[in-house]
Amino acid sequence: MDRLPSAFLQLLTLAVVILSCNVHAADNIGINYGLLGDNLPPPAEVIDMYKAHNIAKLRIFDPNPDVLNALRNSGLEVYLGMKNQDLPGLAASQEATDDWFNTYVQPYLPDVNIACITVGNEVIPGELGPHVLPVIKFLQVHVRAKNLPIMISTTVATSNLATSYPPSAATLTPQSQEQLVPVMKELAEAQTPLMVQLYPYFAYASDPVNIRVDYSVMNATEVVVKDGELEYKNLFDAMYDCFVFVAEKEGAGNLKMSVTETGWPSGGNGDLTTPELAQTYNRNLMNHIASGVGTPKRPNIAIDGFIFAMFNENQKPEGVEQNFGLFYPDKSPVYELF
Ligand SMILES: *[C@@H]1O[C@H](CO)[C@@H](O)[C@H](O)[C@H]1NC(C)=O
Repeated sequence: MDRLPSAFLQLLTLAVVILSCNVHAADNIGINYGLLGDNLPPPAEVIDMYKAHNIAKLRIFDPNPDVLNALRNSGLEVYLGMKNQDLPGLAASQEATDDWFNTYVQPYLPDVNIACITVGNEVIPGELGPHVLPVIKFLQVHVRAKNLPIMISTTVATSNLATSYPPSAATLTPQSQEQLVPVMKELAEAQTPLMVQLYPYFAYASDPVNIRVDYSVMNATEVVVKDGELEYKNLFDAMYDCFVFVAEKEGAGNLKMSVTETGWPSGGNGDLTTPELAQTYNRNLMNHIASGVGTPKRPNIAIDGFIFAMFNENQKPEGVEQNFGLFYPDKSPVYELF
């Protein structure tokens, strides 16, 4: 063979690698679509924004019919939540859960690509926590009977952790021990990811003197925390691995995990919440996820993640809570990310 085709082939290979990296990035990153604003664009326009920015995954917090109808035939992968207050009713019986599914989910199938249903949002640990496992099981029965490829899981925050430093020392609070461990075991058995919600921002904001900003926004250039053999350059990985360590200690070491929320507010708390910091965090997060390097405890296992959130939402509590958006309600970007 002469040189030309071989050089051409190399170029072609390079192009394929670059292209598949981009596809990989888009596949692993989604954005939460919160609706707590009275000035947000109509759902069809929001879905067009996802498509325009190549965001393949969208998460909504309850089965809002306007949004679900707008999602028909969009091709977007949808993570669907439910109202926390519905949990006790659904936990009462298989029939109640079947009714919920047939009312709120079935009408949109198969037009809407519902990939996951999250049973309650951050209800463990708490009063509603005991209802999560029974509803997960009822929904598993339901989707298996219909042969639907829908993951059934729940979302949990770092408030479940009693100890989180260093990651290998992570433990659960007593209430989480009771409520979360059986859920972890069930999800490990079903090989469905537990959905964790990780906010390095809140950890940093609670102790900005001792927690380094570069470690928090994921741009430290050196190892910041050494945990035995494991070396951490960012707090996101450390938080993620806390749950991995806890699962391992509880005999659910093969539990998969996805990140249904993470983000950084661009305002509401002075110097800690500038558009620049938010941009740095979210940009580094996207690169980290797209790289597929995983975390120190789970190297080379790609992380799935959703950024919180699409818009600044004016009906959330004042302060940082209103400022997590990547976009203003008028659809202009709060900072450049894509
Ligand atoms: C990390 O990001 C912050 C905020 O954007 C920036 O001020 C700082 O210079 C960055 N540090 C490095 C090492 O890139």
